[in-house]
Amino acid sequence: MGTPATIAVIGTGYVGLTTGACLAHLGHRVVCADVDTRKIERLGRGEIPIVEEGLAEIVADAVAAGRLEFVVGSVNASERADVVFLCVPTPQGDDGSADLSYIQAAAAEIGPTLRPDAIVVNKSTVPVGSTRVVERVVQRDDVAVVSNPEFLREGTAVHDFLHPDRVVIGANDRSAAERVAELYASLDTEVILTDPASAETIKYAANGFLAMKISFVNAIAAMCEAVGADVADVVHGIGTDSRIGPAFLRPGPGWGGSCFPKDSRALVKIAQEHGYNFTMMRGVIDVNDEQRSRMVHKVVHALGGPDRHALHGATIGALGLTFKAGTDDLRDSPALAVIAELRRSGARIRAYDPTTVPPLEPHRDAMLDGIELCGSAIEAVTEADVTIVLTEWPEFTELDLAKTAEVMAGRTVVDTRNLLDPGRVAEAGLAYDGVGRR
Ligand code: UDX
Repeated sequence: MGTPATIAVIGTGYVGLTTGACLAHLGHRVVCADVDTRKIERLGRGEIPIVEEGLAEIVADAVAAGRLEFVVGSVNASERADVVFLCVPTPQGDDGSADLSYIQAAAAEIGPTLRPDAIVVNKSTVPVGSTRVVERVVQRDDVAVVSNPEFLREGTAVHDFLHPDRVVIGANDRSAAERVAELYASLDTEVILTDPASAETIKYAANGFLAMKISFVNAIAAMCEAVGADVADVVHGIGTDSRIGPAFLRPGPGWGGSCFPKDSRALVKIAQEHGYNFTMMRGVIDVNDEQRSRMVHKVVHALGGPDRHALHGATIGALGLTFKAGTDDLRDSPALAVIAELRRSGARIRAYDPTTVPPLEPHRDAMLDGIELCGSAIEAVTEADVTIVLTEWPEFTELDLAKTAEVMAGRTVVDTRNLLDPGRVAEAGLAYDGVGRR
């Protein structure tokens, strides 16, 4: 590896915690800071507040090796650091604009205490031009501000950090960019050095493109249903074209999570502010909204209703609540969006998700308000008029279908993730409705 550096990471959310732990794993000395005293206490005891494969192990190893510690308050971490990573949230308003107040507050706080020639690295996803904003707030001629967007997927964040397709560094100061690149020297990957605006745009463009791929395949799935084609074969047929590639072509209930919805809206907003009407991205978002409604319509159809009145008083067994499998994150979950539409029309929801078995932390409990949480999949589908699979948890492929048929009141399974084997569902005496499947 390159020379070990002393690093501060401000913010211990999933980006900050993964970044801090992985940089320590690479041999650097890392201090992670957060304003949340309880969180820091928990981390100090080795408790990891999020579901993230492999994270607990590398945190424990790095702490034991004396390379990782957790402190309350950013200055306690930043005043000793050669490089400070800002990993604080950038919440989004309804109009798509990002709230930079956390970043600005953190930058203002650490600015005066930074070591001479320290580097501030922005990892949070921020509107194009934010590196300059941070520079102005830090107010130090000797401190460079660098953009280094993350491309981590929740659930595989540690793997993604340690095996990246590329590392992107945007800086006006070449030597600062090279010092940040040096932190990643032991990773076998391409490092792309560019200016801050390009680095910030790369992040939005990557997420926008991936969201577009999924919206495209969801639209193709709708086409498949209309013309009697099978989406799995169509995806195989197009994904083998090396210009298209097979990744991110899984049809589903629409994309969600903490990045795609936020970043696609931001892309439209930023373009608009700079005088460009990003029609294509608007369409990508519209298709995603439609997709959720299409899933609701499948339930309506299963209930025999011509319209949503059929949902009134119906019991729906929902399997999965998180925005995808492998995470406990409920933010902007398509599963919750579909459930909200079902509830609005008067349906009763009984749901099971492996990560939401009560008792839950109050903020997570609040996100599930009005949903009857069950302790198992079979419990959730008991007495259901329709069962709907909303998250692709592998354990649902093992669902006891004979038992499901026995305990359900109705006869249809709507599979928004194309997770189940339609033949096996039919053998159990149930009707199957997937997404774009013949
Ligand atoms: C994403 C990006 O992948 C990552 O690079 C970025 O840093 C943060 O945003 P994440 O939000 O963790 O990561 O989830 P991801 O695995 O990309 O899935 C996003 C959404 O798209 C989920 O709701 C998922 O279910 C959906 N999806 C993904 C599909 O519907 N079909 C697919 O083929 C892939």
